[in-house]
Amino acid sequence: MSRQKYDQLMDLILKSTNIVALTGAGLSTSAGIPDFRSPKGIYADPSIDGERVFDINVFQNDPTIFGRFFTKLSPQVSQAKPTKGHYMLKKLEDMKKLTCIITQNIDGLHTLAGNQNVLEVHGHLREFVCINSVHHRIDSTKIKIEDVEKGIICPECGGYMKPDIIFFGEHVKDLEKVLTEIQKADLLLIMGTSLSVYPVSGLPSYCKDGTKIVIINQTSTTLDKEASLIINEDIDIVAEKMGFVSNIAY
Ligand code: OAD
Repeated sequence: MSRQKYDQLMDLILKSTNIVALTGAGLSTSAGIPDFRSPKGIYADPSIDGERVFDINVFQNDPTIFGRFFTKLSPQVSQAKPTKGHYMLKKLEDMKKLTCIITQNIDGLHTLAGNQNVLEVHGHLREFVCINSVHHRIDSTKIKIEDVEKGIICPECGGYMKPDIIFFGEHVKDLEKVLTEIQKADLLLIMGTSLSVYPVSGLPSYCKDGTKIVIINQTSTTLDKEASLIINEDIDIVAEKMGFVSNIAY
């Protein structure tokens, strides 16, 4: 990658006062959590039924398809530590440049890196919630992973419980706050997402006129034509080359 692109990125960052980051699974691959659509991603894993694993109607009748996936994912997430990409965003917040992270990731690593204003639009794994009522919740630390495969039963109503993540067919979380934040952005920093999933893929269209869009992603995305700058590179390498993570111990 030419130095010129890093200089351009630094210039855009220094000129911005309100950076909003929009992140996806590519930010956490170097932490050992696979993304979805890469050749080694979750949807390429023959042991996972990608068509049905996040389908809420399937889950209501048969929680085992998701349960098998969760049994595999859960240890990967619990062992994961924030990556250089996550710490780059923490640094941008410390510099009073970054105001918000909108993430599709459910791994909680942005918060673990220390960022304050994180909107987890696809939810998180910290709690299990009943499919019958969002008020029936259990702290995930009280759930045994080996029980998830056969289905966790809600102690209040007997329905199935799942981690508080969004399945296809459900509404994303915090949409109102997300729109407010994105409309304030003067730079939208898109990192580690193929932007294939609606409604997140449509969020950049809510930016005000003049907002710069930067994409840092190994492969192309659905928004490349709209971007002021595209860096097709490993996010951790970008974080290092930009000098954002030099003082972080790993
Ligand atoms: P995808 O797998 O669709 O996209 C991840 C992107 O990150 C890919 O384009 C990769 O090329 C890129 N990538 C991977 N590792 C990288 C690295 N180290 N450096 C730079 N780029 C890297 O994942 P998402 O866009 O996050 O939703 O997927 C969006 C949603 O699809 C997920 O939240 C999930 C899934 O279905 C639900 O489950 C509701």
